[in-house]
Amino acid sequence: MAFLDIRKLSKSYGSTVALNSVDLSVEAGEFVTLLGPSGSGKTTLLMAIAGFTRPDDGGIVIDGVDVTNVDPEDRDFGVVFQGYALFPHLTVADNIAFPLKVRKWAKADISAKVEEMLSLVGLDKLAGRKPRELSGGQQQRVALARALSFGPRILLLDEPLSALDRSLRDIMQRELKRLHKETGVTFIFVTHDQEEAYAMSDRIAVFHNGRIVQVGAPREIYQKPASLFVAGFLGGNNIVTARYLPAERTLQIFGDCLAVPAQFDPAQHGDGEITLWVRPEDLHFCEPGGDRYTFPVIVMDISFTGSSERLVVGTADGQELTILAPSASVTTFAIGQRLHCGFSPSSIGFLPRD
Ligand SMILES: Nc1ncnc2c1ncn2[C@@H]1O[C@H](COP(=O)(O)OP(=O)(O)O)[C@@H](O)[C@H]1O
Ligand SMILES: [Mg+2]
Repeated sequence: MAFLDIRKLSKSYGSTVALNSVDLSVEAGEFVTLLGPSGSGKTTLLMAIAGFTRPDDGGIVIDGVDVTNVDPEDRDFGVVFQGYALFPHLTVADNIAFPLKVRKWAKADISAKVEEMLSLVGLDKLAGRKPRELSGGQQQRVALARALSFGPRILLLDEPLSALDRSLRDIMQRELKRLHKETGVTFIFVTHDQEEAYAMSDRIAVFHNGRIVQVGAPREIYQKPASLFVAGFLGGNNIVTARYLPAERTLQIFGDCLAVPAQFDPAQHGDGEITLWVRPEDLHFCEPGGDRYTFPVIVMDISFTGSSERLVVGTADGQELTILAPSASVTTFAIGQRLHCGFSPSSIGFLPRD
């Protein structure tokens, strides 16, 4: 049995179904991210695990013990919220000491632990400051130290980095990964940002409308999205349609014909109009022919993104594709220009028929 076992958990608010029979197993020491759009049920699940929200149905088992009806203080989990929720009138050291005082630790143990936590998050020199005298990143570190000080079995983090700017977020992502490694605590992390989820997690659970629609390692989720929703939510994928012609074993796509790739299975993917995805970074401008499947396109838009150019092209069958290309390779391109574009047949994925 897994360390944390969530079984058929459901929760509604009036007519809103926030959680719809959610199952999730988490191993001890794992870093699992709940990823999904706003309103998909991530916070509700996190709060149910913490014990702040009572589910209508289903159960939560930790280490073999059913805690579904156990009060939050008796679950002993650390929680970090988006807004940090530090005590404004307490110093950094006293904020970190707070959960230990509540648990009636001895004074000497508290001082020793606070010192250890301050050094773990690199705030040794700021122990006497109040939260308002700290930057956002420093406040976040205090919140993490406070949530970890009493040695929780699980740390629950609800979009803890979403208020930070990009560069600070990158730093805090690495910081969180280091804390996870050094403490060995099980982390359950909520975000709506797929890149953040990819960068940090052992596994990702993708949420949609109160359900977990796919669970897997970051690479697995990226490479094998299980549904149209996951394929569209992750990574600005191009979702396009084609027609499968069984007699010829070909796909009619972009106004042309392609021999069906090995990964296509008519039983699973459909035998008329089919849906597939192709990633912007897997599309390349090239000469017609060769190993790739190539087809004519017309450039509709070009925008500079910093590290590359994002082009939107139109195909002969009226579909639009986004292509990411190194800036240097497309300097002479112009809107309205006709070019050839291609992909390796093995780089595309087919979605299951509904
Ligand atoms: N306390 C509440 N009262 C009423 N509706 C709620 C409450 N909490 C969450 N919801 C609703 O439940 C759904 C899931 O919310 P939430 O779990 O906060 O989503 P997420 O964290 O993924 O953005 C949303 O439709 C939200 O409006
Ligand atoms: Mg939320």
